[in-house]
Amino acid sequence: MDITSFILYFFLIFMVKSDPDPLQDYCIAQTQGAFFVNGVPCINPADASPSHFTTTALSKPANTASNPLGFNVTLTTTRNLPGINTLGLTMARIDIAGNGLVPPHTHPRASEVTILIKGSLLVGFVDTTNRLFTQQLREGDAFVFPKGLIHFLYNLDSKTPALAISGLTSQNPGAQLASAATFTTKPNIPDDILKKAFQINGQDVSRIRRNLGG
Ligand SMILES: *[C@@H]1O[C@H](CO)[C@@H](O)[C@H](O)[C@H]1NC(C)=O
Repeated sequence: MDITSFILYFFLIFMVKSDPDPLQDYCIAQTQGAFFVNGVPCINPADASPSHFTTTALSKPANTASNPLGFNVTLTTTRNLPGINTLGLTMARIDIAGNGLVPPHTHPRASEVTILIKGSLLVGFVDTTNRLFTQQLREGDAFVFPKGLIHFLYNLDSKTPALAISGLTSQNPGAQLASAATFTTKPNIPDDILKKAFQINGQDVSRIRRNLGG
């Protein structure tokens, strides 16, 4: 291996690193406390119990009627599943009403694999050359969204709700919606920037902000 390949290899390994590996079998999240570390501190392993490793958080359909897009994502977290701390995993239950949409968004810290349990979904992601990859999923089909890339899930059926389950490769994947990250930030991104970036006028900016609840 020449020096260039070696350096490239080194950087590739460095760049795809997921959450750090645990230094012990598990690290039950100590969620009481007002200090911050990179992650969540652990309780004494002697105090760990089976209940720390289980959750009912994903067992019930979430309300898809409380937002105009008709979707609701329920996540495991170190609060509802403290045993997940340091394991580099999150699970998500995704409920999507008829013709509901999980709008274009990214997870800056995780790749995601989604399996469609019920209904039919059109899923897709956009790579960094703006190439779009889409797939129509039927029950039982799975799809992966590479880390950090913009993706969406759309329920093609106007009546039947869809249910999908995702696994994500971080205990804190983060989610950034393209629409909210541009038009409903706090404080606002200056209108002149949005006008230029999206080649629209000030009325368009106001209308989009208003429509998105910003
Ligand atoms: C998701 O569903 C939960 C429980 O049904 C509800 O409390 C919450 O407001 C919903 N979230 C959104 C963004 O609609």
